[in-house]
Amino acid sequence: MLERITTFIRELYQEPDSFIPLHAPIFSGNEKKYLCNCVDTTFVSSVGEYVNQFESMIQDFTKSRKAVAVANGTCGLTTALSLAGVQSGDLVLTQALTFVATANAIRHIGAKPAFLDSDKDTLGMSPDALRAFLEHHDSTRQRIAACVPVHILGHACRIREICDICMEWDIPVVEDAAEALGSTLGTKHLGTFGLLGVLSFNGNKTITTGGGGMILTNNEELGIRAKHLTTTAKIPHPWEFQHDEIAWNYRMPNINAALGCGQMEQLQAILDDKKCIAQAYRNFFAEIDDIKYIDEPNGCKSNFWLNTILFSNREKRDEFLVFSNNHGIMSRPLWTLMPDLPMYKTSPTDNLVNARHISERAVSLPSSPRLEQHQ
Ligand SMILES: Cc1ncc(COP(=O)(O)O)c(C=O)c1O
Repeated sequence: MLERITTFIRELYQEPDSFIPLHAPIFSGNEKKYLCNCVDTTFVSSVGEYVNQFESMIQDFTKSRKAVAVANGTCGLTTALSLAGVQSGDLVLTQALTFVATANAIRHIGAKPAFLDSDKDTLGMSPDALRAFLEHHDSTRQRIAACVPVHILGHACRIREICDICMEWDIPVVEDAAEALGSTLGTKHLGTFGLLGVLSFNGNKTITTGGGGMILTNNEELGIRAKHLTTTAKIPHPWEFQHDEIAWNYRMPNINAALGCGQMEQLQAILDDKKCIAQAYRNFFAEIDDIKYIDEPNGCKSNFWLNTILFSNREKRDEFLVFSNNHGIMSRPLWTLMPDLPMYKTSPTDNLVNARHISERAVSLPSSPRLEQHQ
């Protein structure tokens, strides 16, 4: 069985012998040309036209009113939380099943995370768990200042229900859409449901800028504030240095944005190919008992960032991880649950029954786009 899976992956990537990574970027368009242009013009740093162009490409693609390019997704989340009004000592609700950056961003502004359970089908925050937590929380003792649901692997969480519940309690929603560029729920791009959303363009994501992130918001004023806060709060002036608040140097450099512009031109082709890869995995695992392919939830068009399967128990999962990695096929479990990490072990949580079930059984499989095979 283990060999049957790895043989299938080798055929999918037409790689009979060499190492197959989990998610390698692909630069088959104008990326090199735009990077050379940055070097030739010397505009490699925080000023340059590619940053504006990249922002407007993301705005057009996601239909977000404002998109502000930042150095990475983590600092984008920190900024978004600050814009949502989160302050030191506040509680911020998020989910236990996520990459550590979500929790770190909450801590970076001095707030404390509380970790909620996920739904088994979406992997994202469970609206039932959210409601239960809110109903039992004494907000006179600690303010809940924001809620950060995560769209895991590009699959939409129940973001509409989460936004409705948060509206009842008057809690702003910041969507961690780091993994979700190209994913929609209904007709809306993920990251555009809450007050703010954040994308990541890290090297392992659907498209990459080397390192990078984007803050999305439909609130014009917050968009302007996002740019101000991430550019040292400098008041525009031809030569004077005036800054009107303590702020960050989180602006995406032009050289990273140049890569992003080249990548955005390839995005649709990448998404189309990732859909074909997902279909191949779906068909293959439909024939295998005891392994469940995690598919896009109802109503969601996923980017299928990392195709992920669930084994029937941890032992079988671990056996596959050892076998595939020993045979040159990269596979990875999902992350250790946040409250199991030493720095978050005293954070409030709920029972995390589903999150534990998923994190003990899940394995992500090679999911790189294969554009060269389609040219
Ligand atoms: C769920 C999630 N949140 C946040 C981040 C942080 O993004 P970055 O690596 O760009 O800081 C990532 C990815 O790296 C992620 O997967």
